[in-house]
Amino acid sequence: MTDLSKITCIEDLRVLAKRRVPRMFYDYADSGSWTESTYRANQSDFQSILFKQRVAINMEGRSTATTMIGEPVTMPVALAPTGLTGMQHADGEIAAARAARQFGVPFTLSTMSICSIEDVAEHAGKGFWFQLYVMRDRDFIERLIDRAKAAGCGALVITLDLQILGQRHKDIKNGLSTPPKPTIANLINLATKPRWVAGMLATPRRKFGNIHGHVKGVTDMSNLGAWTADQFDPRLNWGDVEWIKRRWGGKIIIKGIMEPEDARLAVDSGADALIVSNHGGRQLDGAPSAIAALPAIVDAVGKQIEVHMDSGIRSGQDVLKAWALGARGTYIGRAFLWGLGAAGEAGVTKALQIIHKELDTTMAFCGHTQIGNVDKGIFRAGTYPVG
Ligand code: GLV
Repeated sequence: MTDLSKITCIEDLRVLAKRRVPRMFYDYADSGSWTESTYRANQSDFQSILFKQRVAINMEGRSTATTMIGEPVTMPVALAPTGLTGMQHADGEIAAARAARQFGVPFTLSTMSICSIEDVAEHAGKGFWFQLYVMRDRDFIERLIDRAKAAGCGALVITLDLQILGQRHKDIKNGLSTPPKPTIANLINLATKPRWVAGMLATPRRKFGNIHGHVKGVTDMSNLGAWTADQFDPRLNWGDVEWIKRRWGGKIIIKGIMEPEDARLAVDSGADALIVSNHGGRQLDGAPSAIAALPAIVDAVGKQIEVHMDSGIRSGQDVLKAWALGARGTYIGRAFLWGLGAAGEAGVTKALQIIHKELDTTMAFCGHTQIGNVDKGIFRAGTYPVG
């Protein structure tokens, strides 16, 4: 067991994860596309928004509880769908789903997960959300939707911003593959990660659980770019959202919206929520930060659809800022992956505890006890919107 008592912030988890996770998977999670300017802006734009400090206001009886698409949550934070989560730590999706359930926030399973939908449902409980990537093989996608339904998933998150893959230099340089190829460089790096290796040797979950055995000819991923170009459907369009919605029949969340015109199309699609997201700065480098894009989208459609956001959230302060700008839910990706890489399920719980404490305390410093009452009044004039 890792002693987490000296871990006090998400950055501590990142540092520990970097020590424990093989370079190619650590880098996969941590990188953005091309110059990484959007990746950096996602965080720096949050930092340029300033709070108004309030004093001598009763801070007792605080609550960060709310709902996301009607589901009660202890704070407006879900675990984002992240690819290859089970390569950050053995059985990673199951560990993260358990931590999220225990904490009272949603877990979203990626299509590109290592543990399968059925496996997560069996070992972490039903009700988690499932994120769908649309691949060329539509029969497979229909079966995947049916599998998510049969496993009791509570919402389908349709990602629209990854028909093709933004180039992340490190993935190419590292020869990212699942499972890792036994090259000399990989073996040398793996020799420095004994915990990770021991965990992986002890689990059968080392391939894409949702895909392996369900799509002919796909066993592992020997090169992310080529694999995605081969499998993902570049023709994906709003018409596809329609048939997916019909087939699914439950709640839908549209992920990857950055412009009000696309937000209006998301409303027209009948989705229950949309996620303002630039995919953590991993797709279109040169796009604005997600927190900069959020206000115009809330203005355009916030009364018609629940607006969520991801990309750049590393603290409870960031969650509060997004909330005050109109996001009724946020998602953490890297922040929980670093917890997972650092210490498995306990590390994800730690990440959630850190963010919750920061959110709760910051809300109090801003003069509020109920998150439902927090709005733009908590900001210093002129420091928002950003970008
Ligand atoms: C997939 O979701 C990726 O960003 O690599």
